[in-house]
Amino acid sequence: MLSTTRSPFSVADDALQAIGNTPVVRLNKVVGPDSAEVFVKLEYYNPTGSYKDRMAMAMIGEAERSGALKPGMTVVECTGGSTGTSLAFVCAVKGYRFQVVTSDAFAPEKLRTMRAFGADLVIVPSQGRKITPDLIPTMRERARELAQRPDAFFTDQINNPNSIRGYRRIGEELLAQLNRPIDAFCAAVGTAGMLMGVSTALREAGQTTRVVALEPASAPLLSEARPGPHRVEGIAIGIVPPLLSSTAYDEVRTVEESEARDMARRLAREEGIFAGISSGLNILAAVRLGQELGPGHTVVAVACDSGMKYLAGDLFDSTETT
Ligand SMILES: Cc1ncc(COP(=O)(O)O)c(C=O)c1O
Repeated sequence: MLSTTRSPFSVADDALQAIGNTPVVRLNKVVGPDSAEVFVKLEYYNPTGSYKDRMAMAMIGEAERSGALKPGMTVVECTGGSTGTSLAFVCAVKGYRFQVVTSDAFAPEKLRTMRAFGADLVIVPSQGRKITPDLIPTMRERARELAQRPDAFFTDQINNPNSIRGYRRIGEELLAQLNRPIDAFCAAVGTAGMLMGVSTALREAGQTTRVVALEPASAPLLSEARPGPHRVEGIAIGIVPPLLSSTAYDEVRTVEESEARDMARRLAREEGIFAGISSGLNILAAVRLGQELGPGHTVVAVACDSGMKYLAGDLFDSTETT
């Protein structure tokens, strides 16, 4: 698994060892004067620029350990690109073929990056490049068909509890880095692996952190049992994710996608944090929690992935205002 003791001056045996141990930074400009301190864990420091490297490594590592994945087999997954990129990266280093079911609804860079790591892409066409509620189920069905082959191993990120194991390290690292009580933690939910992993680590460490699950306001499935279209890649996948346990979080909040996008742009301009749309959503919710809790408290959110993954889209198009 990942090393907990790696010195910044040590040499890694391979690129997989560069996963994890990401920086935590305090927000200074996008928080108000009477706010709690708000910290962001910069998960874009992982090798493929996203926290998904942690879960890809955990899912492949555990499958190897259990004997479900053996040399010569093909790994199969259905993904909007971030998990696919991370799995493609881990499979490249470990020498597995990787077949990925994806869609043109996701950022073209993500699709190209998966190809760059040697993945074989199966594209499911979307309606107007939107993540409609039926898109992910259609992609999953196609992946399940492909995974029928005897030499295929379906990582099945939506149901695979090993992803939670991979994400626990985010919580453990946060506790070690901040070395103080964490009053609130918020995270947008896709598979819910990250929220579950961090929540588990915080609670096992005896923290009484308020854990807040987030979703786009146009797709309030967890809060109002109503799915809907949105363009926040990686989250609000049209079903209540099987890994999500209602005991792991205290509250669900919605965030307007336009405000999340605006926050992603502000983070780059004002804080030097160049991250994607779900990161903007997480951090906007954290800033609001910080305002509610006030000075003397600590709020934490995660920057899920790098803004580099969104350069071909409209997020950082200077003509877009909100
Ligand atoms: C960019 C991005 N943000 C957030 C998430 C949500 O993370 P999780 O699946 O752990 O809930 C994902 C998942 O794919 C993602 O790709």
